[in-house]
Amino acid sequence: MTPKPYTHRDAVPFRPVDWTGEYPPAYARGSVPQHVAVVMDGNGRWANRRGLSRVEGHKAGEAALLDVVAGALQAGVKHLSVYAFSTENWARSPEEVRFLMGFNREVLHRRRDQLNEWGVRVRWAGRRPRLWRSVISELEYAQELTKSNTALTLTMCVNYGGRVEIADAVRSIADDVSTGRLRPSAVTEKLIAKRLYQPDMPDVDLFVRSSGEQRTSNFLLWQSAYAEMVFLDTLWPDFTRRDLWHAIDIYTGRDRRFGGAVDAPDTPA
Ligand code: IPE
Ligand code: IPE
Ligand code: MG
Repeated sequence: MTPKPYTHRDAVPFRPVDWTGEYPPAYARGSVPQHVAVVMDGNGRWANRRGLSRVEGHKAGEAALLDVVAGALQAGVKHLSVYAFSTENWARSPEEVRFLMGFNREVLHRRRDQLNEWGVRVRWAGRRPRLWRSVISELEYAQELTKSNTALTLTMCVNYGGRVEIADAVRSIADDVSTGRLRPSAVTEKLIAKRLYQPDMPDVDLFVRSSGEQRTSNFLLWQSAYAEMVFLDTLWPDFTRRDLWHAIDIYTGRDRRFGGAVDAPDTPA
């Protein structure tokens, strides 16, 4: 199914990436994380604190997403993966699930041309079963439209779950082993990584979650094995590019060791 054509009603004015007139700090060469993963959390609390329904919070999150994409472009981040709907979010009320499905579809539809104009390559990571056909169509359309862009890869994680992603990869490998296409000894970390939803997605360097919750909630489990975790209290609808830059600042101050060790004789006992 081809997504419905862009109509005047959907139009949002195009803006340059630096429309707010703000610029990121000058990060040291090579210090900007290549891949930032964001759990966009806190929409419901943001709305409820204002006496509004949860869906109003989701609506307010759209602008935050666009601002953060622009801020990532400004900072030189090459991969941004955002958690839009988890495989666990089906547990919400039918009304909220229905809203989130339609909303994901509309945001993609409304914003794809702007993202394309900014040089963003949009991709989808997630499961097909259960996900609305119309959402998949919009995701695939945006993917096709933006496939040659190189400024930033924005992976929309919709109907995504880290455990099921690994289970799906393992099942596809098991299929190949059972038919003799693959030897069990060929099953390595590298092979598993190649069977994930986006095989060329690099490991996550910086994992950011808004709203004060300090957990992964099943987001990019495999890819975040050595990610630096940054939890900010800001609720997602209030989140801006400045919060992203703040998270990058925290990240640049971290000591990433990947299991290695260095002597630190100056450290007080
Ligand atoms: C995140 O905000 C958006 C999605 C999970 C789709 P929430 O809806 O989880 O907001 P809180 O956590 O209830 O405040
Ligand atoms: C994670 O947030 C999922 C998304 C942001 C899409 P949740 O709000 O669903 O996570 P929990 O339930 O607090 O762990
Ligand atoms: Mg939440």
